[in-house]
Order: sequence, then structure tokens, then C-alpha cells
Amino acid sequence: MYLLNTYNRFDVEFVRGESATLWDKNNNDYIDFTSGIGVVSVGHGNVRLANAICNQAREIIHISNLYRIPPQEKLAEVLVKKSGIDGGVFFCNSGAEANETALKIARKYGEVNGEVKKYKIITLKNSFHGRTISTLKATGQPKFHQYFGPFPDGFTYAEDIKDIYNKIDDKTIGVMVELIQGEGGVNPFDKKEIQELAEFLKSKDILLIVDEVQTGIYRTGEFLASNLYEISPDIVTLAKGLGGGVPIGAVITRLTDVLSPGDHGSTFGGNYLATRASLEVIKILDEYYESGQLRETIEYFEGKLLEIAREFPLFESISGYGLMRALKAYSKEIRDEIVKKAFENRVLVLKAGDKSVRFLPPLTITHQEIDEGFDRLKEALRGVN
Ligand SMILES: Cc1ncc(COP(=O)(O)O)c(C=O)c1O
Repeated sequence: MYLLNTYNRFDVEFVRGESATLWDKNNNDYIDFTSGIGVVSVGHGNVRLANAICNQAREIIHISNLYRIPPQEKLAEVLVKKSGIDGGVFFCNSGAEANETALKIARKYGEVNGEVKKYKIITLKNSFHGRTISTLKATGQPKFHQYFGPFPDGFTYAEDIKDIYNKIDDKTIGVMVELIQGEGGVNPFDKKEIQELAEFLKSKDILLIVDEVQTGIYRTGEFLASNLYEISPDIVTLAKGLGGGVPIGAVITRLTDVLSPGDHGSTFGGNYLATRASLEVIKILDEYYESGQLRETIEYFEGKLLEIAREFPLFESISGYGLMRALKAYSKEIRDEIVKKAFENRVLVLKAGDKSVRFLPPLTITHQEIDEGFDRLKEALRGVN
């Protein structure tokens, strides 16, 4: 293997997928409750998405941001209108880049607005914001920080939402949060607390940045988790499910006057291929949402999860919204065993936090795949002590 040793991989080669089912090279089928960590939102082998990508690839894949890109302009309009954030969009290629962009917007806003430069960003314990040097520093989990310092200054961690108020000082320019912490264990914050925080920050001219890299694009049942929480942040970051597997990140912000040409950019960001793919993904999911199918799938999935939580004395709690869910096991050892046994029974699930089993299935998963996946998971759980 010539790959760097950055992942502990399962020894399997998937060669084909359809909806939430994957086949390995020996034609064994697996039920996918992970969607490539919340990415394959419209399922594997989606014909509409594949056609959109193929048609675009035959015309133009990439030209750079030195020229106009109509699907990029269209996607920006769609994101602004659907998010309810009256502003503009910057496109990049990943969640970390989207968050870097958000941090740059906040830093420049803090520099040009007012007599003293405000530059501090408050993030939360157990947050996850990416793997670049600044987004790692923004990530409130010390285990990720070892080896990679020195980091940029200006990041402060709050224990929880209430503690954010204690951490604010006259240099604070922004607060960055996930409304439901994903990698941290699928921990949703209280809606009222978030709404109060949003109000307070607005009154102090401190920016609210919501990292929706994992929660965005219908993952929680609404277009954005911000819609579910009924808030309108200053900046929202997106990636993962936005392209259905084609790499794309986006930043939506009401602050349209902060960045000027030369301040920021991305060679690949928002190219023809990625934005055309994303437009199709959103169209598919809009239909799914409006027909009520997404709601129905979420309820069906939730019912099965509750059944498992009741039947097996391995879990202390169940958490999450929509199709972003977790079962918290009583210990890390139990959780690790479950993920391993699930794989052996050909159902894919994820780890999150210290001891949670995380579920991020394609949003278009069928009832039949849900039934099959949970049957396999039950079989796996019977083998866990
Ligand atoms: C909330 C959140 N922010 C940022 C990231 C980083 O995204 P990417 O891996 O696309 O850089 C992730 C990835 O898991 C995430 O869950």
C-alpha cells in the first residue's frame, strides 16, 4: 500500500451501490447506514445525479473563477433563498475550507468594523470543525491538537452554550457552533438556548457562525438545522451532503461587503461539475421533502432505532434529529464491538464521540433497506456482551 497511514480501514472493496445498498467485489451486499459520513444524501448510483454529472462533464467540467459560471450563480441563488439568509455565497471544496472561509470573513469584519480589532472566536467543547490548522484549533477536542502546534491565536472554548456568555470579551468577534454536534457524539443543543444566544450575539454585534457541514441539506429533516432551530445566523457553512458525493463546500452569509477580490479564493471552488451536481441533489431532495417522503422515512427509521434501544440493554440514550442519530452505548468497548459486529453482519454504522454508534443513512433510503439494516444490526447486537 502506498497510502499514508491516516485511516484504519475495514478490509472491503465496494464496487457498486444502489440507494443504501453496497456490493463488494464478491457480490456480498451491505446496508449503508453511513452514506460516506453524511455525504451520499441521494443514495448510491442515483441515476438523476449521474445523468446531471455526465451531461455537465460532456460540456464543461471546469474553467476557474476568472469567468462566469451559470450553475454556480444559480446554486448561490438557491442556497440564499432556501436558507432564508439574505446575502451571498462563496464556494469551496470541503467542510474545513468552508469553515476557514467563515473564520476569514469574521476576522476581516472584526478588523474593519470598529476602532480596535476584534478577532477572537468562541467554539464549544466536543465540537468538530475540520483538519486544517485553524479549523483544528477551532475544534474543541484537545486530542486532535497534539503534535500540530503552534496554532493561530484567538480561539476560546466554552463548556456549553451557557458558558459562551462567560467567555465573551471585548475582542470577541464570533461564536461558531454546530447545532447538533456530529463527530462529538450527536449532541443536539437546546432550541431555546440557541435562540437566546442568537438574540444576545446580535445585540452585541458578535457574529453567529453555524457549522452545518454535517447537519445541512435536509439531514435533520429541514433544509438547514438553522431552519429547524428557527434562527438566522450571520454565516452558515455547508459541505458533505451538498454534492451527493461530488466534493463541494459553501459559505452562506449576510455579510456580502466584507470580502473583496483578492481576499479569498479557490481554484476548484464552485466549478461547473460540482455546482451542477449540487443543483440536482437539491432538486431531488426538495421533491422528497415536499412530498412528505422524507418525514415518513425519518419516522420509520426512528421507530426502528427506538425498538433497538428498548430491546437491547447496551445503550444509555438515543439522540439526534432527522436522519442524524446516535445510540450511546454504556462504554467505548461495547460501542467498538457493536460497530465491528455490525460490519461482520453487513450493515455499516459509524462511531461518534466516546461511545456512540452513529447513523447517517442516505436520506432516500427505502423502508425495505431500513428493515434489512435493522435486522442485521439486531443479529450483530445479539453477539455483543
Ligand atoms: C461539523 C463538521 N464541520 C467540519 C467538518 C470537516 O469537513 P471536511 O472533512 O469536508 O473538511 C466535518 C467533518 O466531519 C464536520 O462534521
